[in-house]
Amino acid sequence: MLAEKYPEEIKQIFAKYPPEQKRSAVMPLLYLAQRDEGLVTKAALEDIAQMLDITSTEVAEIVGFYTLYHDKKSGKYRMQVCTDLPCALRGADKFLQDLCGNLGVKVGETTSDGMITVEAVMCLAGCDKAPMFQLQSGEGIEYHENMTVDKTMELVAALRKSVKEVK
Ligand code: FES
Repeated sequence: MLAEKYPEEIKQIFAKYPPEQKRSAVMPLLYLAQRDEGLVTKAALEDIAQMLDITSTEVAEIVGFYTLYHDKKSGKYRMQVCTDLPCALRGADKFLQDLCGNLGVKVGETTSDGMITVEAVMCLAGCDKAPMFQLQSGEGIEYHENMTVDKTMELVAALRKSVKEVK
């Protein structure tokens, strides 16, 4: 349980909000849960919901909405392709489909070498530069805009090479 593991941090988080607005603490609590396990587990969802007197569905909706919260494990890199309407009008769906075909995965899956997880996400504020995606990893987040499948596969090859060189 988060409350037992991090009592002081949780106390500090709650101190930032008036008691009647404690549900506002959902974001920092999710951050804490994700920092703890690398993703927001079902148990953490329920734990947070209980602390805030809201439903676990409400907490799950927040996790689902924000691309920086994760409820599933990923490969070393999480490639999040925006398929929201403006990007779709610039070919994002076909880009995603072709990219998945090249990587041998379906949306939401990870390549067999554990390197790339491909996800479809909502607007990333790069609408005029679609197809675009953000690449998340332990090293941070990079935006890649005006992408083609060929350019993306070159990037993937470079990432694979750099991981091999580190080993
Ligand atoms: S709709 Fe794709 S970045 Fe805005």
